[in-house]
Amino acid sequence: MKRTSRISDLQDIIAEEKKRGRKIAFVPTMGFLHHGHLTLIDQAKKTGAFLVVSIFVNPLQFGPNEDLTRYPRDIERDALLVEAAGVDILFHPTVEEMYPEKMVTFVEVGELDEMLCGANRPGHFRGVATVVNKLFNIVQPDMAFFGQKDYQQYLIIKRMVTDLNLPIQICPVPIVREDDGLAMSSRNVFLNPEQRREALILSKSLNEAERSIQMGQKSAREIEEQIIKSITLKSQGVIDYVEVRDASDLTEVTDIKRPVLIALAVKFGTTRLIDNKVVEVK
Ligand code: PAJ
Repeated sequence: MKRTSRISDLQDIIAEEKKRGRKIAFVPTMGFLHHGHLTLIDQAKKTGAFLVVSIFVNPLQFGPNEDLTRYPRDIERDALLVEAAGVDILFHPTVEEMYPEKMVTFVEVGELDEMLCGANRPGHFRGVATVVNKLFNIVQPDMAFFGQKDYQQYLIIKRMVTDLNLPIQICPVPIVREDDGLAMSSRNVFLNPEQRREALILSKSLNEAERSIQMGQKSAREIEEQIIKSITLKSQGVIDYVEVRDASDLTEVTDIKRPVLIALAVKFGTTRLIDNKVVEVK
């Protein structure tokens, strides 16, 4: 596996591969890789394309009081994992390489940014869309892989690619969970044993909500209330949001008639966890 922190090296190598007629597949990450990331990488590998993985903890997407400096990092362990996964090149730029000057140009996300995680983390998705756009311009992939764990992020990137005519296929990958149901996340390492146990209520309450919808519950408010009740009764988690939204464009839903996204964000101590489920209606 090749490995570089330089944009120009990466571009030279990718240009060579493109000249030989190879397609380029890309998996952007912030590192501290777990099985969720590795599943994205496996899916990308299956395409047979030249496979680029980036690891970059992007300061632009962290708010002033968020966990940028605390975000877990272990580049040597990550490099071994991606090499074993058959990645062709690992790109791990420094902040100076990605942002040599103070940025003045950004990708504005619009209404998709005004709800869910966007409402709770002002500027977050602008930072995500901007860095992903930069990475897309650097890598010029034919396809890029995003996890549905970050469903809003996935929709925002899909929309950015459509709105800005980027010739890139965005490939979604379902949420990868621990055996007991907790959605895998680099931030799970911050949970103490009690919080780790209590955090199970997130996936459990999403499964219960899905059952309620399948049994005929049509009221989005009732579903939200049901989840809020189980989280507050069974854990000390502090709820940021629990919302039922249209799965295709995140607009508000009153009666559940089309596929919905049930999304939630809950803080356990200082660790903010997100989870979601897309529920089809029969
Ligand atoms: P990061 O949190 O490292 O996630 C990288 C990719 O892995 C994202 O597409 C995310 O949705 C996916 N992922 C993480 N946990 C997952 C899980 N349990 N199941 C399925 N997919 C999972 O998301 C980011 O980094 C950044 O915002 C980034 C897009 C790299 C821009 O900086």
